[in-house]
Amino acid sequence: MENQAIQSVILDDENSTLVILDQTLLPNEKIFLRLTSQNQIWEAIYSLRVRGAPAIGIAAGYGAYLGTKESKAETYDELYEDFKKVKEYLASSRPTAVNLFWALDRMETRILKEKGKTPVEVKNALKDEAETIREEDAKVCETIGEYALSLLKDGMGILTHCNAGAIATAKYGTALAPIYLGKERGVNFKVYADETRPLLQGARLTAWELKEAGVDVALICDNMASIVMKEGKIGAVLVGCDRVAANGDTANKIGTSGVAILAKHYGIPFYVCAPLSTIDLKCAHGDDIHIELRPDEEVTSKWYEKPMAPQGVKVYNPCFDVTDNKLISAIITEKGIAYPPYNESLSKLF
Ligand code: MRU
Repeated sequence: MENQAIQSVILDDENSTLVILDQTLLPNEKIFLRLTSQNQIWEAIYSLRVRGAPAIGIAAGYGAYLGTKESKAETYDELYEDFKKVKEYLASSRPTAVNLFWALDRMETRILKEKGKTPVEVKNALKDEAETIREEDAKVCETIGEYALSLLKDGMGILTHCNAGAIATAKYGTALAPIYLGKERGVNFKVYADETRPLLQGARLTAWELKEAGVDVALICDNMASIVMKEGKIGAVLVGCDRVAANGDTANKIGTSGVAILAKHYGIPFYVCAPLSTIDLKCAHGDDIHIELRPDEEVTSKWYEKPMAPQGVKVYNPCFDVTDNKLISAIITEKGIAYPPYNESLSKLF
């Protein structure tokens, strides 16, 4: 299977199972996990086995369906009560990526539309909605890729942070979509992937995905972004996002805002690739975005054979940061490319 189409989250309905590619094991092992309980799906999201905002949304949609499918409710009202419990539980897995809440709200809108139907009919409707979320995401990513490609030139150097690739979505990814689409058409880029401390999504996932796909990718440590920009190697920065506020302030993987500051300094365009499902108009600006704090051991010892910090040292581990809208050259969505002022351009997309 081509890497841009790798199925990182799929439903095996016959066995009431969610099948996910365990992203924590990449690049060393490509293992698909079979998740059958709500607890397993919650844990997979929390532990970043399934990660990336769109993939989290897709997993949550399937999780809401599978959790409700288990219900023994005999009436619509009882089933709806059970659905709400599943929804609340899955919503507690991670706080920042709005796609999680977007997908769960969408599932709730669907169940409300089915009011009065039998539990079997309602369960089928939920399955249909979850499948639609995944199918739509593949098309959305492809369209984002087309728009992004229109801003790039053959042979350009592109810097990316974290992983906004195929495995973080249904297909193609967001920030990596133009790279895959370009490759299909003979338009090639030189990609620099930030390793993305502390969980190394750039090293483990982006470098793996792109290398497997035959893309020219070089891995750099996060603190090398400045030198590659200064050396003229980068024509554009492309990143994904977890939540875009109405004013364009954007939460993405920790370290993204630093890259944007560097890009501004060197006069390099900084593009955010954002499906509409990641734009949260209810959130006025970046200060309103809940930034997830993660366990200390991700900084001190995870991925290392031995701890790389003194035992018991205090750690601060925010896992996202907010890039100020003034640093963002454009926000690329499936409905077109939004330019500043974002308060106007983003709301017009809906
Ligand atoms: O903590 P993660 O790995 O889920 O963070 C992911 C990111 O920051 C991605 O850039 C974002 O979700 C976009 S994925 C298309």
